[in-house]
Amino acid sequence: MFDWLKKNKSGRPVEKSGADAGASVVVTIDGPSGSGKGTISRRVAEALGFNLLDSGALYRLVALAAEDACLSVRNTEALVELARHLDVRFDSDEGGEEKVWLGEQDVTKSLRSEETGASASIVAQLEPVREALIERQRAFRQPPGLVADGRDMGTRIFPDAALKIYMTASAEERAKRRHKQLKEKGLNVSLAALSRDIEKRDRRDSERTIAPLRPAMDAKLLDTTGQSIEAVTQQVLDWVAEL
Ligand code: C5P
Repeated sequence: MFDWLKKNKSGRPVEKSGADAGASVVVTIDGPSGSGKGTISRRVAEALGFNLLDSGALYRLVALAAEDACLSVRNTEALVELARHLDVRFDSDEGGEEKVWLGEQDVTKSLRSEETGASASIVAQLEPVREALIERQRAFRQPPGLVADGRDMGTRIFPDAALKIYMTASAEERAKRRHKQLKEKGLNVSLAALSRDIEKRDRRDSERTIAPLRPAMDAKLLDTTGQSIEAVTQQVLDWVAEL
């Protein structure tokens, strides 16, 4: 096992410093919507004391900022400017729940809506927008390590990641999970409509020419259908332990 995983007395991984920062280990978890990658990435990052990159949130934020500025999602030049200068802050409330700020605006709820997901997948088709977000994503690679969740983490953003995972689940289970998640966040949407939206978004993400959703050649495939969050988290941690 890598020696960065040796724990100190507090049980946290030992941090590397200074010159080693660029070499911080990366675990990438890519996959379609509802595959479980967001939940599992958070759990794995917590267990390892690693940083977490939710790259989908960045595309969602560009889409939200565009809507705020009444910009068309096809105005590439203006979108690139937005992506370059996103004033975003990730936070948590007293209960430990995620909070996201765009400038002074609390966008926690609108960020996770299906409409925002759909707009995000449209802006995500634009290569200049993707390019404008590359360095911002790579900057999350800080000691002692990073868990990066998205669509192209293993294929494009962190091609040298120590562990690459491609997570899937049956279409039916993914729709059900998203439905439950959205309901918990107080967002109302019918299961049938959600299934259609997810299918459309997956098709757009998989068929686009730039950084399409697909497993990296060296990714481990993980089908989470019918598996508990605990079991999937443990599987990922076991793979990390084998590094
Ligand atoms: O993961 P999430 O559902 O938040 O992502 C929203 C959209 O952002 C995806 O449907 C996809 O089009 C886009 N995305 C992407 N590349 C990533 C992460 C998300 O194109 N690395």
